[in-house]
Amino acid sequence: MSQFKGQHILSVNQFDRQSIEHIFTIADKMAPYAKRQKRTSVLEGAILGNLFFEPSTRTRVSFGCAFNLLGGEVRETTGMGSSALSKGESLFDTARIISSYSDVIAMRHPEAGSVANFAKGSRVPVLNGGDGANEHPTQALLDLFTIEKELLHSGNKIDGLDITLMGDLKYGRTVHSLSKLLSLYNNIHFTLVSPKALALPDSILSVIDNAGHKLTISDDLQGNLNADIVYQTRVQEERFDNKEEANQYRGRFRLNQKIYTEHCKSNTVIMHPLPRDSRAEANELDNDMNANPNLAIFRQADNGVLVRMALFALTLGVENIVDKYESQVPWYSTKHQD
Ligand code: NCD
Repeated sequence: MSQFKGQHILSVNQFDRQSIEHIFTIADKMAPYAKRQKRTSVLEGAILGNLFFEPSTRTRVSFGCAFNLLGGEVRETTGMGSSALSKGESLFDTARIISSYSDVIAMRHPEAGSVANFAKGSRVPVLNGGDGANEHPTQALLDLFTIEKELLHSGNKIDGLDITLMGDLKYGRTVHSLSKLLSLYNNIHFTLVSPKALALPDSILSVIDNAGHKLTISDDLQGNLNADIVYQTRVQEERFDNKEEANQYRGRFRLNQKIYTEHCKSNTVIMHPLPRDSRAEANELDNDMNANPNLAIFRQADNGVLVRMALFALTLGVENIVDKYESQVPWYSTKHQD
């Protein structure tokens, strides 16, 4: 039996290299369904409770689409104001109720630790879609899945990876979860580029350090972008007590084609969990890079569907029978060619 059947996915601390490999093998098997080459109804009758108490586009919709692509249905609530949490209901009560309506729950909430607390009241598996500045485990898995795929072009593996993580490393939960996952591999060179005030928290630094990886810390991108992967992030303005402070950092580290040409290797892969802040005062990842084949951001977002399909299949124990419930796709789809 899979170790994930009936389990919550709350933190990347739950994973080891073997379980990650297993998730990625299942994710690969989901590709024909995501590309609409065939359909499956393996989760017909199952309901996902998709609870997003913080803004989200990709994570919320890709969780929903992943569930739909496996044949299940999605019931959703978005925003704190439209839920009973704003009437003082506890996370426990909400969990107790929603878990009786659904078979699995995906949840995002602005407070660190909230999703784990919620899970205590849930009778079905809960997948953490981001809890404050703490963790974003499904994003970290899709980031790692993307890194592995992108490295294939140069014949490299995750072991020995040279990665630059840049921007808001203090509040960026995707960076926290990804750093911990990467620490499971060997000989990673982490270059951390951020304003000093937005440095990676000590708790994550010590995970990297204890695993014996090489660490370079800088508040300057000069000389620090010639990595295999450059992972850019957005200033997490919603986590600052003082918006003025966030404004100081927006646009501090920008990437555009000129900077790429001057500072990156010819095959440096650019990633970003998205959304990129494209307002003029930030513009951390310029649109002029859209034609650069090494810009992986859209492939990265697409991979989110595969990884989330895999996690649903595993937590609901259907990972080996997805194909048994397959059928043809009768409609025309442009995705066949992707
Ligand atoms: C990230 C998040 O919400 O943590 N977005 C995402 O899930 N892809 C990053 C961000 O909002 O900047």
